[in-house]
Amino acid sequence: MSREKIPDGPLADSRSMLDVHAMFKAEFLLVPALIAGVPPGDQQRTDVVADHVQFMCAILHAHHTLEDECLWPKLTNRGAEEVVRISHLMEGHHADIARILDQLNNELRAWRGSAGSLHGPALLQTVKQLLPALLEHMSAEESQALPVIEKHVTADEWQQMAEAGTRHVSQEEFVLAVGMITCAKLESSAHMPLSPFEQQSLQVLVPYAERVHGRDNHVGIKHWLDR
Ligand SMILES: [Fe+2]
Ligand SMILES: [Fe+2]
Repeated sequence: MSREKIPDGPLADSRSMLDVHAMFKAEFLLVPALIAGVPPGDQQRTDVVADHVQFMCAILHAHHTLEDECLWPKLTNRGAEEVVRISHLMEGHHADIARILDQLNNELRAWRGSAGSLHGPALLQTVKQLLPALLEHMSAEESQALPVIEKHVTADEWQQMAEAGTRHVSQEEFVLAVGMITCAKLESSAHMPLSPFEQQSLQVLVPYAERVHGRDNHVGIKHWLDR
C-alpha cells in the first residue's frame, strides 16, 4: 500500500500537549468537589459551576476535534501498521469520551434547571465515568501517540493545529483556555518566562478562577501574582 509522504521541513515538537493535558487534568479533577459543594437551591452558585463545567466540556471537545482533524488522519495515512493502530486507538478513545460528554451536558442542564437540587448524584456519576476515561486517554496519547506524532507530523502542521483552536471557541473562551494552560505551566515551572499574550490571559483568568474555585486554589496564578 502506498503511504502519504511526510512533507519536508522540521518535525513537530509535541511538548506543548503536556501543558494542555495538565490543565485538563487539574480542572476536571476539581469538578466533583465543585458540584458536590453547591448548596441545593442556590441558583447563583449552580449557574457558576454549571457554566464552568460546560465550558470545560466544550474546550475538551474542541481539543479532541482538532486532534481528530489535524493528527490522526496524518498518522493513518503516513505511518506503518503500529502507527495506524495507535491512531485508531486515539479515535476510539475520543468517540467514547464524546458520548460521556453528551450525557454529562444533558445532566448538567437538568441539574442547573433544578438549582442544584435534583440530578446531582446522576451528574456526579457521569463525571466519575469521565475522569478515568479521560486520564487513561491522555496518558496513552502522551506515551504512545506523541512519540509517533514527532516522526510523522511537521512543525508547521503542528502550529496550524494550535492556530485552528480559535475556530472552535470564541475569542473570550480562547483567552480563558490559554490562561488555564499558562497556569498549568506555572504550576510545573513557577519561574518560566511568559509571553505578553500569556500574561494577558492570566489577567483574564484570575477573576474567573476566583469566582469558580475561590481565592486559594490556583497555585500557578499565585506564583505569577507574587512575582
Ligand atoms: Fe491531546
Ligand atoms: Fe486526545
